[in-house]
Amino acid sequence: MNRPRHFNLLARVLHWSMALAILAMLFVGAGMVVSLQYRAPLLDLHRPLGIAILLLAIVRLANRLARPTPPLPADLPAIQKFAAHASHWLLYGLMLAMPLIGWAMLSAGGYPIKMFGGVHLPAILPHSPEVYGMLRPLHGVLAYVLFATILAHLGAALFHAWVRRDEVFGQMAKGGPQ
Ligand code: HEM
Repeated sequence: MNRPRHFNLLARVLHWSMALAILAMLFVGAGMVVSLQYRAPLLDLHRPLGIAILLLAIVRLANRLARPTPPLPADLPAIQKFAAHASHWLLYGLMLAMPLIGWAMLSAGGYPIKMFGGVHLPAILPHSPEVYGMLRPLHGVLAYVLFATILAHLGAALFHAWVRRDEVFGQMAKGGPQ
């Protein structure tokens, strides 16, 4: 298969816009559990932004599976190639799991799942305090895993850009002839 030199435009737009949205979500999430004053408005933002991330993650996964991706440098050590692929799939998993768990835990807790403009999403789980009691801490723990994976991903991107000075950062940062 002919591999392109860059990620396609949709992949690049989704990568950078979702990076901003997910970082914002981590801080909004942390903010709403430490601030009584801003808890309600932050939660009102957290729910719809999280569902938007879920929808964008589905589009992004479909695009990732349907379109060929640029290759990693041929001389990259096998362990680094493995780490790159493993962390990318972990990020996809967490981009889907975090919002689904948020939605599921509110459903299990019997809370309304309010979006903007008075729209409510349906519950995706039956009411169960026990299930809520499991999903609520899971949402918090996976947020730390997501944050740590994002930091590792950022570190790797800068390593490629500034230390190895190879083509990897540019594959996501700019377009150009395929
Ligand atoms: C990428 C998506 C998401 C990320 C990164 C994210 C992140 C977070 C973080 C960091 C926290 C604080 C956790 C803690 O300190 O224990 C949190 C809490 C919470 N999240 Fe999310 N979240 C996402 C999606 C969602 C969605 C879609 C919903 C609901 C529809 C949701 C509902 C909640 C609720 C209800 C809390 C707890 C509020 C509380 O008990 O004070 N989250 N989230």
